[in-house]
Amino acid sequence: MAKYSILDDDIQEILLSPEEIDSIIERIADEIDRDYKDSKRLLLLGILKGSVVFMGELMKKLKIPVEIDFMKVSSYASGTKSSGRVNILLDLNRKDLSECDILIIEDIIDSGRTLSYLCEYLALNGARSVKTCTLLDKPSRREVNFTPNYRGKEIPDKFVVGYGLDYAEQYRALPYIGVLKPEVYNK
Ligand code: IMP
Ligand code: MG
Repeated sequence: MAKYSILDDDIQEILLSPEEIDSIIERIADEIDRDYKDSKRLLLLGILKGSVVFMGELMKKLKIPVEIDFMKVSSYASGTKSSGRVNILLDLNRKDLSECDILIIEDIIDSGRTLSYLCEYLALNGARSVKTCTLLDKPSRREVNFTPNYRGKEIPDKFVVGYGLDYAEQYRALPYIGVLKPEVYNK
């Protein structure tokens, strides 16, 4: 019997267990509570779809009030390779950005292109402030210079799935972060 999911068989190694992820998010929530205690309007901006599990858990652990919104962008053309370009597929449709302290919530930073582009875009659109929060970071893969304000865990250059992260839209619901067996995507 699978421990967590029928899809466990496609996973080579569990990098972060559900319990480890929980304590990472607990720590990040404490940092955000402390840093934004004087903010009048904190907007958590989730990047669809990968951030939804992380953001759902993070917002429940925050003690300060937050609003949420979402954008959808694509940087991955398909599969496991970045296309190097960022397209906005779903934009923010609000006129009150000048009142909002935006905290962008991402699942993982790889090349850094998505978040560096979005930070610039939101600043140009008049956000009061823009910071970034990612559950995972693969710093060895950077193509542009970018450092997040909040980071759950640095991981090696391996393709991971679970906790919102997908391969070909699968595996997002796994409650852990796992390394996908290469034979799954080399099929
Ligand atoms: P960046 O613009 O190259 O930093 O790409 C970040 C995006 O690439 C993330 O939001 C993910 O959607 C995707 N991504 C990067 N690495 C992985 C991975 O190991 N597994 C699943 N998605 C990934
Ligand atoms: Mg993503």
